Amino acid sequence: MTAVTDLPTPALLLDLDRLEANLDRMAARCKRLGVALRPHIKTHKSPQVAQMQAARGAHGITVATLYEAQRFAEAGFDDITWAFPIPLTRIRDAIELSREITLRLLVDSAEAIDALEQASEPLRQPLKTLLKIDCGYHRAGVEPESTEALRLATRIAHSAKLDFDGILTHSGQAYDAVGGEELARVAEHERRVMVAFADRLREEDIEVPTISVGSTPAMSAVETLNGVTEARPGNYAFFDGMQVEIESCRVSDCALTVLSSVVSSSPEHSILDAGALALSKDAGQPGVSRPSFGSGFLDHGAGTLDPSLDVFALSQEHGWITGSHPVGSRVRLLPRHSCLTAAQFDEYIVVRGDEVVDRWPILRGRD
Ligand SMILES: Cc1ncc(COP(=O)(O)O)c(C=O)c1O
Repeated sequence: MTAVTDLPTPALLLDLDRLEANLDRMAARCKRLGVALRPHIKTHKSPQVAQMQAARGAHGITVATLYEAQRFAEAGFDDITWAFPIPLTRIRDAIELSREITLRLLVDSAEAIDALEQASEPLRQPLKTLLKIDCGYHRAGVEPESTEALRLATRIAHSAKLDFDGILTHSGQAYDAVGGEELARVAEHERRVMVAFADRLREEDIEVPTISVGSTPAMSAVETLNGVTEARPGNYAFFDGMQVEIESCRVSDCALTVLSSVVSSSPEHSILDAGALALSKDAGQPGVSRPSFGSGFLDHGAGTLDPSLDVFALSQEHGWITGSHPVGSRVRLLPRHSCLTAAQFDEYIVVRGDEVVDRWPILRGRD
């Protein structure tokens, strides 16, 4: 039996008790809200975690890349939404995968619809295609009140090669809100935008099978999802320092930590063996909080942070932490953004309390 204290550093620790509690809570929440849960697996990139989500009733999964879709299809997941505006360079591969599993594609442009319709690869059946809607994040998606939105949905619905699967949005702007009330307001705006646009489509006799929403902060505060069919949170499996700051979770909910050790010390600061290639360079949400790359725990079991342990700078493999600490001492860190932190490592060291119980690979490759 290996104890956490015996591990070489840096190590990515996944607390199984907290992970299970997070998965249970979101599964119950979606059930209560009357929506299917289609978790975004880009957070964990782990078939083991996705199987735990499926065992709790998840309906399919969401991915960000074709690589994730391919690897998770190989791992047995046969209903996958690729929630990313399809790169035209990947259409051929996407069609190939769609012959083996149910693959739902996303578009927000006439160019992408043209390219899908013009693809010469043989189809097993029309390609399930969702239209991306901008509900206020302004990253991608069509403006739901525009004539363009209606035009694109109509084109997909009337295409012989495409099967209109519905509409999808992501409330990333929830990361700029703080506290339950503000987060719930973002979630309600997202719901309203989507239900109103779906009603507009139905007036045009277009069926809308899927109305898909979701981000972790919105889903942790949302009060009703009437009219919505599915939610796609991802980060909720692990949570992180950013979610704590915007009050979408407590420190004691955070399942992912980085175990590091002090390799050099000065009277002003200490250097950890956890740099940008362990923690990522995501310093948090500008304007919401002071930039920081990670916080040290005072007591991980109790879920308390030590305010005097702040990772304030990073280079590739070095992390600068406040305070003078003896070389060799260990610091367990709460990362700022768990999705990007997980993507820096090859495996999770799975722990229950202080005991290592398993190791799970992270499918973080790109092709
Ligand atoms: C399209 C899409 N859907 C769902 C999610 C999940 O959001 P979160 O990680 O906040 O749960 C993301 C995250 O970036 C996303 O880009």
